[in-house]
Amino acid sequence: MTRIILPVVVASLCLATWAAAHSGVKNLNVLERMEAMKVTQENTKVLGAMAKGERAFDIEEAQAAAAEIARLARKTPALFEAQEMDANSEALPVIWEQFDDFTGKSLALQAAAKTLSISIETEADLRAGLGRIGAACKACHKVYRK
Ligand code: HEC
Repeated sequence: MTRIILPVVVASLCLATWAAAHSGVKNLNVLERMEAMKVTQENTKVLGAMAKGERAFDIEEAQAAAAEIARLARKTPALFEAQEMDANSEALPVIWEQFDDFTGKSLALQAAAKTLSISIETEADLRAGLGRIGAACKACHKVYRK
């Protein structure tokens, strides 16, 4: 019995957490771009935990996290291309008034993350790269997110 019930309980718990995080978001395009940002954040947290010494420094894990951030940053302009809105979205309409600049800020993050993923050797590289990645997130959020 337990063997059958447990996965169902775990699955519904995960679903509940996921739904709570984006409660009320009905627009699937908006959900998709929010999900991409969430995965970006999770990967940034992996790097952050390593930089703070809360997680063991591991070059391969750091490379993978940075590469994932770069991959999602490259996808960001396509995810935002359609001017989709939702009551729960934090995106500002100015994104679509200056989409070239928005794209440039996505590519700046991609470049910072990619550079880290291919050049990281030491913890100092990690900290410097994470600083540049964090600055790239902020540069965009400051202008384009509520
Ligand atoms: C080119 C612009 C841009 C860059 C670069 C960017 N973001 Fe975002 N981010 C946004 C916008 C716009 C939203 C709001 C999306 C919405 O609510 O529709 C957002 C939303 C988010 C959210 C909230 C998602 C949710 O669940 O609602 C998180 C977390 C986030 N970003 C993390 C990051 C992190 C971490 C980085 C850097 C590694 C980053 N972002 C880089 C534009 C950007």
